[in-house]
Amino acid sequence: MVHDKISGLLDRMSLEDKIGQLNQICFKDAEQMRYEVRKGRVGSIVLAGTATAGNDEQKKMNFDLLNELQEIALKESPAGIPLIFGRDVIHGHHTVLPIPLALAASFNTELTKAAYRAIAKEAASDGVHWTFAPMLDVSRDPRWGRCIEGFGEDPYLTAKMGEAVIRGFQGENSRKADSIAACAKHYIGYAAVEGGRDYGKAEISEYTLRNNYLLPFKAAVNAEVATVMNSFNEVSGQPVAASRYILHDVLKDELGFDGFIISDWGAVAQLVNQRVAKDRKEAAMLCANAELDMDMADGCYIENLYKLVEEGTVLETTIDKMVYRVLYIKEKFGILDNPYICKCDIDYESSLKLSKECADESVVLLKNNDILPIDKSEKIAIVGNFTHEKRSLLGSWTLDGDVGMVKSIAEAFVDYAGSNNVVLSQSEYLTDEILFHLHKVDTVVIAIGESHRVTGENNCLSKIELPEAQVELIKQIKALGKKVVAVLCFGRPAALEEAEPYMDAVLYAWHSGTFTALSVKDIVYGLINPSGKLPMTMPRNTGQIPIYYNYPAMPRNGMSYYGTGSNYLDCMSTPMYPFGYGLSYTEFEYSDINCEKDDISVDELRRGEKFRISIMIKNIGKYSGKETVQCYISDLYASMTRPLRELKGFKKIFIESGKKEKVIFELGFEELGFYNANTEFNIEPGEFDVYIGKDCTAKSSVRITVV
Ligand code: GLC
Repeated sequence: MVHDKISGLLDRMSLEDKIGQLNQICFKDAEQMRYEVRKGRVGSIVLAGTATAGNDEQKKMNFDLLNELQEIALKESPAGIPLIFGRDVIHGHHTVLPIPLALAASFNTELTKAAYRAIAKEAASDGVHWTFAPMLDVSRDPRWGRCIEGFGEDPYLTAKMGEAVIRGFQGENSRKADSIAACAKHYIGYAAVEGGRDYGKAEISEYTLRNNYLLPFKAAVNAEVATVMNSFNEVSGQPVAASRYILHDVLKDELGFDGFIISDWGAVAQLVNQRVAKDRKEAAMLCANAELDMDMADGCYIENLYKLVEEGTVLETTIDKMVYRVLYIKEKFGILDNPYICKCDIDYESSLKLSKECADESVVLLKNNDILPIDKSEKIAIVGNFTHEKRSLLGSWTLDGDVGMVKSIAEAFVDYAGSNNVVLSQSEYLTDEILFHLHKVDTVVIAIGESHRVTGENNCLSKIELPEAQVELIKQIKALGKKVVAVLCFGRPAALEEAEPYMDAVLYAWHSGTFTALSVKDIVYGLINPSGKLPMTMPRNTGQIPIYYNYPAMPRNGMSYYGTGSNYLDCMSTPMYPFGYGLSYTEFEYSDINCEKDDISVDELRRGEKFRISIMIKNIGKYSGKETVQCYISDLYASMTRPLRELKGFKKIFIESGKKEKVIFELGFEELGFYNANTEFNIEPGEFDVYIGKDCTAKSSVRITVV
């Protein structure tokens, strides 16, 4: 049925019509767009005017123009194929969610899916058919500004969060008007750029590529992601954009991806910069023969593919396969039959409520020397550069958010506790004016952070330590004998080695969207019990990078994960805070870990049998709260070095004070297998230790054996 429909369309299309479907133009002068669409030279429009839309203050998008352009495509272009409109709806549309790295700290895939369902409706109502998210780059380097766009350092967490985002965007029925096509990006290895320097070299072995970076894309394909975007980087010398092995053999043949690949902005033309194409024509030839299906914004395909087919260096059958995939997604998302904007019924109240819940669960309590929560009647001071900040709380890649809806930390606290109980100062320096007020309070909230402008694309930092002024402010206030509550609004992990000893409580609030400040206020005053857990290791200092928990067994210096055996002489070897770590106002006790079966054969596992491991968790504190129970495996003997700990399960549960819950994890072929030296995904016989606990340092363990 669908195949016949698409094949029929293809049969009626000229070569020019087909090539037009593979060309995505950027949002430019309206007359220019009308002309190109009318000529049949456009299959898609990226609703962005510049290559770094996440950074640039974009002109307000003229969504009304979309229906007009669509009508031209339908009624005036030769083939009459509707356009597909794409936009970077990364973590919000009009309602802004936490940046993805912050949302990963929630470890709440159900909430994530619901929140993305809500923003999909908002975006679809504006005419967005397709979003360029989720970003599934597994990032171990907080110097890389784009770490904020992904879900952290762990492949499993990234896979689960990515799947939730895809299902949220695409909905249960892709043909519904409020479903939008998702895009797994950047395929593949972009986050491995050396030194965290964007667009740089990524030296990745096949073994690491498959076991570290491929897993999230495998999960995305299994979640039926509509599109994939290639990454700018090369992998061990070959630009991904020109790699038929990576784009076609692995993604399409091996993983069975049936959607289409969109290039990143200009990635085709950039092969000339990478000196693997002598000109734009050769760049187009390399990418088309790698079956990179659609060319974003640089015009290489529309300019050269016709000649390349005429010369025979690109076969028309190749073009047909690429166009088929584009038409298949346009059909799958109902664009061929319902090309015009369909206003969805949007429950903005519900969207905002979901955004607040996301922020509540993204904030991570890193330290609490028993001073939080505080009573609203206690007089406090708030100082620091984020006291009145609003825009940066929304984070990078906020194209359609409304800063007018954002409350600052000052507003949130004063609205709740009253101006008599909250003294404010935005200064980053201990001025006389602050001093005058400070003697009236015992507790000082130091609200500091980084601008969203130093996060995101091509915004990398050579060091991630807190700025000197912020450290100085913290020290001076501590020297006054105050209780210091540090509220840290950074997009990426910050290095806290120097300042942390002067902080009595640390709340990592990230850039958590519209409701960042309200969530911070609710947590500080105990209206919300914090439940966030770190999706990325917090280094003590920049020199420790890269430092990540899933480090392989080492030849010498001890067997502690994090590679803590390989010490620096001038720094402790452990991170400031480990992966999966986050405190609560209550305490959870783990006990009675148990495995139903001690051993299962490889064949039984291959046939779907699983180890079922249970554990009891009791809330022994006075607050009810949520806990993310984490399950890690440790392969004790394999043909390749394996991480000493690997996250292979997590469950976020709510437990009332004094109550207990049993949690069960199932570990089977997918969880215990890995890609071996021959790139085969397999399980090897041997023993595994399974650790279950509140972060990657979990102690409770049970041994299982694959026979
Ligand atoms: C940018 C980014 C990519 C984004 C695209 C469209 O260069 O690399 O993540 O989706 O262009 O804005």
